[in-house]
Amino acid sequence: MSAEREPIGVIGTGYVGLVTAVGFADLGSEVFCVDVDSEKVARLQAGQVPIYEPGLDELLARNSERLHFSTELAPALQNARLLFVAVGTPPTHSGDADLSAVHAVVESMPAPDGHALVMKSTVPCGTGANIRRIFNENGKSAYSYVSCPEFLKEGSALSDFTHPDRVVVGGEGDWAEQAVVDLYEPLGAPLVRTDVASAEMIKLAANAFLATKISFINEIANVCEQLGADVVEVARGMGLDARIGPKFLQAGIGYGGSCFTKDVSALKLLAGNSGYHFQLLNAVIEVNELQKRRVVSKLVRHLGELAGKRIALLGLAFKPNTDDMRGASSLVLAARLQAEGAHVKAYDPIAEEQARSLMPQLDYADCASNAIDGADAVILVTEWEEFLKLEWSEVARAMRGTLVIDGRNALDGNAVRAAGLIYEGIGRR
Ligand code: UDX
Repeated sequence: MSAEREPIGVIGTGYVGLVTAVGFADLGSEVFCVDVDSEKVARLQAGQVPIYEPGLDELLARNSERLHFSTELAPALQNARLLFVAVGTPPTHSGDADLSAVHAVVESMPAPDGHALVMKSTVPCGTGANIRRIFNENGKSAYSYVSCPEFLKEGSALSDFTHPDRVVVGGEGDWAEQAVVDLYEPLGAPLVRTDVASAEMIKLAANAFLATKISFINEIANVCEQLGADVVEVARGMGLDARIGPKFLQAGIGYGGSCFTKDVSALKLLAGNSGYHFQLLNAVIEVNELQKRRVVSKLVRHLGELAGKRIALLGLAFKPNTDDMRGASSLVLAARLQAEGAHVKAYDPIAEEQARSLMPQLDYADCASNAIDGADAVILVTEWEEFLKLEWSEVARAMRGTLVIDGRNALDGNAVRAAGLIYEGIGRR
C-alpha cells in the first residue's frame, strides 16, 4: 500500500476499535489509537493484545510501526483528520444504549479545526443528528460527522474487516464522507453511501433481523420436537431458497454476545420511545430467553429431579473462537441448573477467566475430560472445535450417566449413539 494513505485516529481500543486500527494499519494508514485505560494502552504499546481474536496479535506485530497508542487525544488530533469512534455503548438498566462514553468523546473535542468524527460504535438512530446539534451549539460546527457502522463478527473479525459484505457510509455529503469512502476503497466491497440516520438504522435493523432469524429457527426447532421433524433438514430445505439463504438458521440454545442482545433491545426501545410498538422484537427476545432454559426440561425428562445430579457444561463463551462471555447462554443455563440443585462442572478452552469473574461459584474443569468425569449428563454449550472431535466411547466410559445434550446441533449424533449414549439435539428427530 502507498504511504499516502489517509492517517486515522481511533478512539477506544476495544474489540471494534482495535480491529479497525489494525485493519487500516495493514492497508497502509498511520493509526493513532486513544484509550482512557492506561493499563490497556501500556499492554498495546508492548505489543500485547488484550482480547482473544485469532490472528490479531500477528497482524498487530506486523504493523507495529504504523500503530501508535496513547491515553492522550493530542497525537490523534495532530496527525489525523478522521477520528473513528469505537467506544462502548452498553445497555443501561432500561435497555437503552448508554451513550455516556460517546458524549465524553464529543465533549473532549477541541475547537474546530477540520476534524471529523466517524462513528463505529453502534448508536441509536438519531445520535448523529444529536451530535451535530451539540457541535453547532458549542461553536464546533466545522466538525464533520460520518456514521460508518461496523458489522464484524468476533472470532472472524479480521477477515470480516478485509472482506466485508458491504461498507456503509452515512455522511453529510462533505470531505469526510468522501475520505471514509476512499479509505475503504481498496477492499472492493459494495458501498452503501447514504445519510447519517439511515446508516445508523442499517446497523440496528441488520442485527435485529439476524436475531429474528435465529429466534425463528429456534421456534421451528421446538415445533419439530413436537411433530417428529428434524430442524437441520428443515433449515437445509429452507436455506436453499435464495430469498431465505442458509446462514443464521442454526437452531440451538439461543443467541448471545454483546451485539444481538443489546441491539435488539435498543431498537425495540428506540421504536417505543418514538411512539411505535415493535411487536415482533418482543417475541424475538422472549423466544431467546426461553430457549436458554429449555435444556433444563430436557434434562428433567431424562434424569428426573436435578438436585444432586452432576452436569458437565462443554463451552461457556457465547460462541467459539472468542473469550467473550457477554450475553452467553451459559450464564442463564448454569444459574438455572444450580438453582435446581445440580452440581455443574464447566470447561471452556479460552473463556474460563472471563467466566470466573461472572460466575465465581461455578466448578471449573481444566479440560473436557475432567468436566465429563462422573457426569450424569454432558451439555455442549459452545461448539469449540475440540468438542467436535471427542472420542465418544471414552466419554461414555468416563460418565456416570448416559445423556448428551447437543445445544448447538454440532455433534455427530450417530457417533454419540454408537458409544451407547443418549443423544438429544435441539429440534432433532
Ligand atoms: C454479531 C453480528 O453477526 C455482527 O455483524 C455484528 O457486528 C455484531 O454482532 P457476533 O456477536 O460476533 O456478531 O456473533 P455472531 O456470529 O453473529 O453470533 C451471535 C450469536 O448467535 C452466537 O451466540 C451464535 O451462537 C448465535 N447463532 C448464530 C445461532 O444461535 N444460530 C445461528 O444460526 C447463528
